Amino acid sequence: MPLATASSLPRIALVGTGGTIAGAGVAEAGAPSAAYRAAVVSAADLVAAVPGLGLLAELHAEQLLQIDSVDFTDALLLRLARRVAELCAQPDVDGVVVTHGTDTLEETAYFLHLTVPSAKPIVLTGAMRPGTALAADGPANLLQAVAVAAHPSSGGRGVLVVMNEDIHSARDVAKVHALHVNAFASPHGALGLVLEGAPRWYRAVTRPHTTHSQFDAGALDALPLVGVVTSHGNQRPEPYQAWAAAGARAIVHAGFGGGTVPQSLRPVFEGLRARGVHLVRASRVGAGPVIRNASFDDDALDSVVCDDQNPPRARLLAALALTRVSDAAALQQVFWTY
Ligand code: SIN
Repeated sequence: MPLATASSLPRIALVGTGGTIAGAGVAEAGAPSAAYRAAVVSAADLVAAVPGLGLLAELHAEQLLQIDSVDFTDALLLRLARRVAELCAQPDVDGVVVTHGTDTLEETAYFLHLTVPSAKPIVLTGAMRPGTALAADGPANLLQAVAVAAHPSSGGRGVLVVMNEDIHSARDVAKVHALHVNAFASPHGALGLVLEGAPRWYRAVTRPHTTHSQFDAGALDALPLVGVVTSHGNQRPEPYQAWAAAGARAIVHAGFGGGTVPQSLRPVFEGLRARGVHLVRASRVGAGPVIRNASFDDDALDSVVCDDQNPPRARLLAALALTRVSDAAALQQVFWTY
């Protein structure tokens, strides 16, 4: 639906998807923040609860989903990406803010970063505490996300995540704490921060995204199945075999340290590769690159390394890549590129 234009303020479309930012306490106000239900407050009510938003932008809120973000599927990711792309294509939309649960926010942000072909600002935000908690963080995060989306300097930087006054790139950000309001961090540092209501930038992403990405949600009906298996002591082959039996085209091995592979799994990997399943070596550590042919002979095994992508994002990039390429060398090139 086109936005009504009554002022010269930037026009921001807000897409609600649920999460704790749309959560409410199940006990009286001021109850411990763990006692709440996610995804119950509408996007329109979120906007109404932060009166200062009206000074920053003309907002149009829509409720695309109302879910706990752990319930996101690839089909819902595609639906959201297509809707955000539609909104960005409207001449009367200057930017888009997506409110989202924090648990899978980094995955959705990265997916939009790779599949929405627009240079308009696209900003995701969420909250670690519901609106009914003492010191709720959602209203400030929403205000800051809108301030960033409405600012002319925010375009062309790829999809952004605004949490707790920091502005992160969707390529790098991850949730790194289960409870604190400063739960999000980027291994190479945030792009900038929100200072007195405006973005201040310190860094830029160097890898392609949005308008320079080869992937477009509008051209995709579904994603190939890709699984993730996280390493631990006493590692067993069954999870890998189960993914292959389920039809996975690739398995992301979230290995120890530099993506290392226990000796006992090497013949298993060989067998899977012989069946056509790609193996993408990543690290469960959360930061730092996995080096090709170090500690594991990727050339001999025809496996791929994820560069510095964390396992959930490596899953998404592998799935997108496998919509366009099928051999390991080309898949590796996609990981070097993005
Ligand atoms: C969710 O991810 O939907 C619930 C948790 C949160 O938003 O912090």
